[in-house]
Amino acid sequence: MQFLTELKRTHLCGDLRAADVGREVVLLGWVNSRRDHGGVIFVDLRDRGGVTQVFFDPEITAEGHKLAEGMRSEYVIGIRGIVRSRGANVNPRMITGEIEVEVQQAVVFNGAKTPPFPIKDVIDTNEDLRLKFRYLDLRRKPLQDCLITRSRINQLTRNYLTDSGFLELETPILTKATPEGARDYLVPSRVHPGEFYALPQSPQLFKQIFMVAGYDRYFQICRCFRDEDLRADRQPEFTQIDLEMSFVVPEDIFGIIEGLLKRIWKEIKGVDVETPFQRMSYDTAMNRYGSDKPDLRFGLEFEDVSDLVAGVDFGVFKDTLAAGGCIKAFRLPGGKLSRAQLDNMTDVVKVFGAKGLAWVRNKAEGWQSPIAKFIPAEVQAAINARLGLEGEDLAFFVADKWKVVVDALGALRLHVAKLAGLIPEGQFKFLWVTEFPGFEYDETEKRWFSMHHPFTSPKPEHIEYLTTDPGKIMARAYDVVLNGIELGGGSIRIHSTDVQQKVFDLLGLTPEESQRKFGFLLEALQYGTPPHGGIALGMDRLVMLLSGGESLRDVIAFPKTQKASCLMTDAPSEVDPKQLDEAHIRLKK
Ligand code: AMO
Ligand code: AMP
Repeated sequence: MQFLTELKRTHLCGDLRAADVGREVVLLGWVNSRRDHGGVIFVDLRDRGGVTQVFFDPEITAEGHKLAEGMRSEYVIGIRGIVRSRGANVNPRMITGEIEVEVQQAVVFNGAKTPPFPIKDVIDTNEDLRLKFRYLDLRRKPLQDCLITRSRINQLTRNYLTDSGFLELETPILTKATPEGARDYLVPSRVHPGEFYALPQSPQLFKQIFMVAGYDRYFQICRCFRDEDLRADRQPEFTQIDLEMSFVVPEDIFGIIEGLLKRIWKEIKGVDVETPFQRMSYDTAMNRYGSDKPDLRFGLEFEDVSDLVAGVDFGVFKDTLAAGGCIKAFRLPGGKLSRAQLDNMTDVVKVFGAKGLAWVRNKAEGWQSPIAKFIPAEVQAAINARLGLEGEDLAFFVADKWKVVVDALGALRLHVAKLAGLIPEGQFKFLWVTEFPGFEYDETEKRWFSMHHPFTSPKPEHIEYLTTDPGKIMARAYDVVLNGIELGGGSIRIHSTDVQQKVFDLLGLTPEESQRKFGFLLEALQYGTPPHGGIALGMDRLVMLLSGGESLRDVIAFPKTQKASCLMTDAPSEVDPKQLDEAHIRLKK
């Protein structure tokens, strides 16, 4: 292309200011919009740097003006011209609004079909269409901003961790299953009929093996693959900032991560994040907020009132307590909710198995509530004192098994906070959640599961419970939470073969199974393994929180849908019978 060999781009379309007036420039980009003012034609020219207005005056370039007559949205063009002041016609809504460029020479590199949706900041287009034409969606500024933020976080992370003595090392994608609680994506082997690789759910075991090998302080910005039920904050393929360190206690890891997040928030948002972050035990988080990832931007903390209602003659409360359950409640100050909003709330808690919800509105003359008649005045007064009910405050109660109560009230707490407009914008509440239980018993499957993953160390004083009372085990695990979203999680690991074997036994793996699946780990641990631990942050969630987005799909260049498909390439898709044959696969009809 002659234009490109003769003339080099001098600026991006967001660069030019009043100080550039008079300068000759070359801009290359896409026609954002075109206006023909009968004589002079104006084009808003766009590239990833921004938008600049350029104009084609037939008096200055008859040839250029002729080309401009044929230009349409998304045509790819180049111009050489002189920066002019807009004088009194400054456009304060554009960063480059003080200037425009008078075109001297122009070229059209390529035409474009009419896009199926406008390339504008705010559009009201169905997401499937945007995903199918992702290359057009990615031209829009909000998505561009997200990806640019993402690139900056990558660089900041690399610089920060490298400066902190970490080595950036890679681990395999074609590998053996590393369980993180999801299903594996499998890849058939052509060379080994009937055998499969698994894509890593995380680099967990490889990073531990790096510690065995003496590569203290590893990190990687890595892709992980999990075949799980997708939600707005989950993708089947996502990115972690993954790290591991030897000879550490949790506080060492907290310090590294706090420093990293502080740096990222400062550089990207200009916000000074306070460190150290608040710490809270899992137990407190569940009992006070009904979540292991509490949003601390607002209050609405729970109080247990079981002791206060113990003697009350109200069937629901009495039966709950007799069955070993509890009654918890939280207060909504001001209580500006309508009767209809209150009545609809039962639906929110029912999802979690709660059989009902009781609400109370405090009044000078006593409670206004469907349960008021069951609760004597002195008990009402005691509950008011515990919850801090005053004026016309509202309170919500759930009576049930502990787990049902905290889950139901946890969801209700978020629901009420949204309804009442209690969630402030622009606040960042970081938190470490610690002291997780090691294992959970699944009643339906009748077996124990790891809360984090099977390589997480129990507290040293709890190791003996592995064979006696697993429910009592506390793990040396921790999560970092921001505004109610789990940003990352990690733990101090097991570094003894004996303990690791006991955990596999507890999880119901036969000795043969643990050898087959994790024999290499059990072996490696016996060759001088240092105490070690680490963490992984969800990169996509980080970018989502920094850019204020609601969905991971907005911060991943080429995301998958809720059904794990890529609408642009149409993956997954059928393959040639020949390929199946080579992979030794016969499909079930
Ligand atoms: P974990 O499974 O907690 O830990 O994952 C760490 C973080 O990764 C992010 N994440 C996801 N992001 C998007 N889509 C998903 N499907 C998804 N799943 C997880 C979350 C989460 O907090 N190997 C351990 C880490 C360790 O112990 O060091 C691990 O993977 O932000
Ligand atoms: P009932 O006696 O079942 O009509 O319930 C009287 C009130 O108690 C109603 O307002 C119910 O919503 C409420 N309620 C019922 N079950 C529960 C529960 N498990 N926890 C809290 N409130 C409940």
